[in-house]
Amino acid sequence: MKIIHTLPELRTHLAQFKHPALVPTMGNLHDGHLALIRQAKPLGDVTIASIFVNRLQFAPHEDFDTYPRTLDADCAKLESAGCNVVFAPSEKEFYPEPQTFKVQPPPELADILEGHFRPGFFTGVCTVVLKLFNAVFSEAQGRRVAVFGKKDYQQQMVIRRMVQQLALPIDIVTGDTLRAPDGLALSSRNGYLSADERAEAVQISLALKAMAKALRKGEKDIAALEARALQTLADRGWQPDYLTVRRRHDLHPPQAEDLGTDDLVVLGAARLGKTRLIDNLEV
Ligand code: PAJ
Repeated sequence: MKIIHTLPELRTHLAQFKHPALVPTMGNLHDGHLALIRQAKPLGDVTIASIFVNRLQFAPHEDFDTYPRTLDADCAKLESAGCNVVFAPSEKEFYPEPQTFKVQPPPELADILEGHFRPGFFTGVCTVVLKLFNAVFSEAQGRRVAVFGKKDYQQQMVIRRMVQQLALPIDIVTGDTLRAPDGLALSSRNGYLSADERAEAVQISLALKAMAKALRKGEKDIAALEARALQTLADRGWQPDYLTVRRRHDLHPPQAEDLGTDDLVVLGAARLGKTRLIDNLEV
């Protein structure tokens, strides 16, 4: 496995391949990331993981400075998962000057849910992902694939729309969310949780599960369902941002005719102590 830190070295190395498959990450890798690598492997002739903690997608009060940076351990895991290339640029390499050209996703997709509670988040994500695509795919010929997790449901949708609207010749593939045995979605941020918080953390997944179950049983009062879920977590000491039922295809609230179809997803974000967790479940 080759570990590369600069753009020229990446381009030179990838010139010998035709069909790169990319898994963008911010590092501190867990089995969910590695599952995406394994999923990417048969889709290209070279599998690349990028590791870059992207300042642009963090608000000033968020955890950019404390986000765990564990390159050596990450590389060992990537190698065992069969990854071929790790692209881990420094901030100076990837943003040699302030990144003032940015990709602005449409507000109806990017200013709701995560984008409402983290203004500018998806501008930061789209900008870094487009730049990573340019770095990795510029020498490719033929099929180019990038793999994203459904754990970040809105993110994979925003990226799909970006690729579609900008006519990028890249196939976006999504991977299912990997969970701990108790049902908590794996996340780099789970490492911030104390032992007590870790035991409690699964409650966000359970709340979403209960919402999905009620919907499958024919619940029609979405507002009441959402209010109950919010209250359940609040009563347990969480600070929920949202627990909500949306349409899979546009992440907007369902109309009466959408209920009972397979177009629904429940999504949630909530803080437990200082840690903000997100999760979702297709109904
Ligand atoms: P990061 O949080 O490191 O996640 C990298 C990829 O792993 C994303 O596509 C995410 O959805 C996926 N992932 C995270 N947890 C997962 C789990 N439990 N099961 C399966 N996949 C999981 O998402 C980002 O980084 C950044 O926003 C990035 C796209 C790299 C842009 O900076």
